[in-house]
Amino acid sequence: MKRVGFLTSGGDCQSLNATMRGVAKTLYQKYSDVEIYGILEGYKGLIYGNYRKMKSSDFSGILTEGGTIIGTSRQPFKKMRDPDENGLDKVKAMKDNYKRWGLDCLVVLGGNGTHKTANMLSEEGLNVVTLPKTIDNDIWGTDMTFGFQSAVNIATNAIDCIHTTAASHGRVFIVEVMGHKVGWLTLHAGIAGGADIILLPEIPYDIKSVVKALEKRNKEGKRFSILAVAEGAISKEDAALSKKELKAKRKANLFPSISYQIGQEIQEKTGQEVRITVPGHTQRGGEPCPYDRVISSRLGAAAARLIIEEKYGYMVGLKDNEIVPVPLGEVAGRLKMVDPDSSIIKEAKGLGICFGD
Ligand code: F6P
Repeated sequence: MKRVGFLTSGGDCQSLNATMRGVAKTLYQKYSDVEIYGILEGYKGLIYGNYRKMKSSDFSGILTEGGTIIGTSRQPFKKMRDPDENGLDKVKAMKDNYKRWGLDCLVVLGGNGTHKTANMLSEEGLNVVTLPKTIDNDIWGTDMTFGFQSAVNIATNAIDCIHTTAASHGRVFIVEVMGHKVGWLTLHAGIAGGADIILLPEIPYDIKSVVKALEKRNKEGKRFSILAVAEGAISKEDAALSKKELKAKRKANLFPSISYQIGQEIQEKTGQEVRITVPGHTQRGGEPCPYDRVISSRLGAAAARLIIEEKYGYMVGLKDNEIVPVPLGEVAGRLKMVDPDSSIIKEAKGLGICFGD
């Protein structure tokens, strides 16, 4: 008999259900008496003891369903060691519930913050297996996270739709793509959507370079331009500030997001009409694309195999198209960022895409 707890944590994405289905199906194939506890709303459910006993049928028909059937929440890692408002020791509560429910293992689907807590629980003695979830594709130790390609499709579609209206009106359009700390999603959607300028958190921009690129297009008789801008895009000037100075500057900033600031600067410096589009959380919604369904199923099956072999303390990741176990200690606390010197950036620059540097 195996009793396994499933938990989805942090921002949701399209392929969470497909991944849980992959784990569950493989476990049900192996054991006739496996019990799966669906821990509700991420670590919150583990802290406060909320779960639902799942049946095999709960995992049927969810391959194509976005979101997560067991809910999620954000529980910041840096506050995990702080007692809650009623003085509850959250880490102790999670360990107590794990033991009280008689779990053999905790299966955690999540992003970077989630992995820090998962690693902590593993170090505290719980059996933990994790799966890399995020539209940001920024988890260390895996070439690909599930959710990323589905989000690339949506962000690309937004840029595609903007193309026609931008061309008709001869306007500059900014499409703001999700990603505060890393720019994978913006980079891929930008290239796929044919953006002329791509601004990423990893490559601080100079507005003068952006304006120069726009003016070059004008001179070439191109009536419109499209910028794919990451939520976390940052100017060279701001990147040179200390954390404290940047925080104070941002607090005083009246723009709703970086794209609006860039938009105003472009309008003032070029006289061109600028419009901003923010697809926002649509990028995390809807059904998973076929690519995500495949890697979710593969990752899920591989995670179940680790449970069957009682090999705990690992994340399953994709490396050179093979699924491999990666020690949680290697994953936790590290971000996989876009390298400004990587070949994808060089190739994009070769295509004439401006990164504002
Ligand atoms: O981590 C996924 C992500 O969608 C980021 O790309 C984005 O910056 C953030 O979550 C948004 O968080 P929230 O849903 O809490 O607003």
